[in-house]
Amino acid sequence: MDDEVIICRCEEVTKGEILKAIEQGAKTITGIKIRTRAGMGLCQGRTCGRLIARLLAERTAQVLEEIPPATVRPPVRATKMENLVTSHGE
Ligand code: FES
Repeated sequence: MDDEVIICRCEEVTKGEILKAIEQGAKTITGIKIRTRAGMGLCQGRTCGRLIARLLAERTAQVLEEIPPATVRPPVRATKMENLVTSHGE
């Protein structure tokens, strides 16, 4: 894969940026997420997470199946349930 290939489409993070994060010491998906924003997009890493894990496994000699998923964060601000529910017919 070329370094310019987009790995995280939501945040437009390339393979090269992820490899650079690994070179800078990232050993987990969360470490890559913090350095590059990969996995912070709309899909929350559902699309790019496996690709990132595979790159991480290849470059750090970790077993792919043993790489933990990225940490998930709740919404930044609390909101009322009524704001999340859409009304029908009104
Ligand atoms: S593709 Fe990476 S967060 Fe959606």
